[in-house]
Amino acid sequence: GADLDALAHSILRDNDQGGYTIPTKGLYPYQWNWDSVFVAMGFATFDLDRAWQEIENLFQGQWDDGMVPHILFRKNDPSYFPGPDIWGTKSEPFPTSGHSQPPVAATAMRDLFEQSRAPENAERAKALFPKVMAWHRWWATYRDPKGHGSVAIVHPWESGRDNLPDWDEPLSNVDTTNVPDYVRKDTSHVAPEMRPLKQDYDRYMAILTVGKACGWDPKETVEKTPFLVADPAITMILLRANRDLLVLAEKLGYLDAMPEIQGWIERLEKGLESLWNPKIQAYVTRNLRTDVLGTGVSSASFLASYAGITDPKVIEPLKAHFDRIAGKVNYMLPSYDPDHPGFEHMRYWRGPVWAVVNYMASRGMREAGDHLRSEKIRKDTVRLIQQSGFAEYFSPVDGAGAGGNSFSWTAAVWLAWAT
Ligand code: DGY
Repeated sequence: GADLDALAHSILRDNDQGGYTIPTKGLYPYQWNWDSVFVAMGFATFDLDRAWQEIENLFQGQWDDGMVPHILFRKNDPSYFPGPDIWGTKSEPFPTSGHSQPPVAATAMRDLFEQSRAPENAERAKALFPKVMAWHRWWATYRDPKGHGSVAIVHPWESGRDNLPDWDEPLSNVDTTNVPDYVRKDTSHVAPEMRPLKQDYDRYMAILTVGKACGWDPKETVEKTPFLVADPAITMILLRANRDLLVLAEKLGYLDAMPEIQGWIERLEKGLESLWNPKIQAYVTRNLRTDVLGTGVSSASFLASYAGITDPKVIEPLKAHFDRIAGKVNYMLPSYDPDHPGFEHMRYWRGPVWAVVNYMASRGMREAGDHLRSEKIRKDTVRLIQQSGFAEYFSPVDGAGAGGNSFSWTAAVWLAWAT
């Protein structure tokens, strides 16, 4: 209701650093890539100009090779580890992390563009378009080293789903013997049982050290990283983003860009097929070093309709998984299958519900005409926020809030979609 709307507004305002928004104070004191894009969708409900600004400012961090980094370190804040000194990237116009994050920007841009017919609105979309093209071209150029068509990531942080049980197998091959001593900050802000394990962090740091030694050169990093895994969520998010970019290309008059985007769409559709695990009938990760497939149903599978996949051979088994899982937990969508031994209801991406994934999954299902499941997800999200506030994530079992609080993207998704 009105109280929660007002609270959501005040969270976005409080986390606004003047043109860019941090996810939450203390735990994440910088600008994060996909957080900012969801925040823009929230701002768009009451301030379209500020929504554009959020995305424009994200692209200030874009690298010359087209990559848009996952963190922009605009000013140093010692409450976060690993900060700019650890990443060791270029410092102009400000330091950043060295890899990317799920590319939701084109989808948000299309929404913003369609919200107003004012000429200056189209101008802003037009100015951003070539930058988004360059980012999507970066994914296409560097992140399909085996030619499967799917999108590979070089670090679990790049997925945004840091400690997903599917990363356990590829992470188990990461050598941590040369990791320098470090002190985590996250567990001083949030209870350790809601966060990744020390063993995970050791491996995160080992991968970071290799990327840094490569100067985060996109080709060399892919060759040398000890963690190279195809991610169904990024593959589907990029596929969706490319469909939205294609519409923008036509409407904004970038007709020359259309065949290239069309090519990316066809490749990603094919790539997604390489991530279907016939044994469990779901989309999973694929370790590109060992060819080992993930074994669990993560919430990524429920982004199939969002990605524009309509094949009943995929959609029907996924509906069956959805209904089975809905019978096990009190709140959809858990980030991982509650019937899998890797499931933990409070530990970050090993079980908790995330409002932004719910938003994307529900939106896709609604577009595909599955109103029942779409509404189930939306209503569960409303119940979670009513019960536990604007938490970073929520237990699918008892609905408890977890992680950081006064969380920007949860507030944004509330405004843009949940109510
Ligand atoms: C963190 O520090 O936990 C973030 O998820 C990394 O992006």
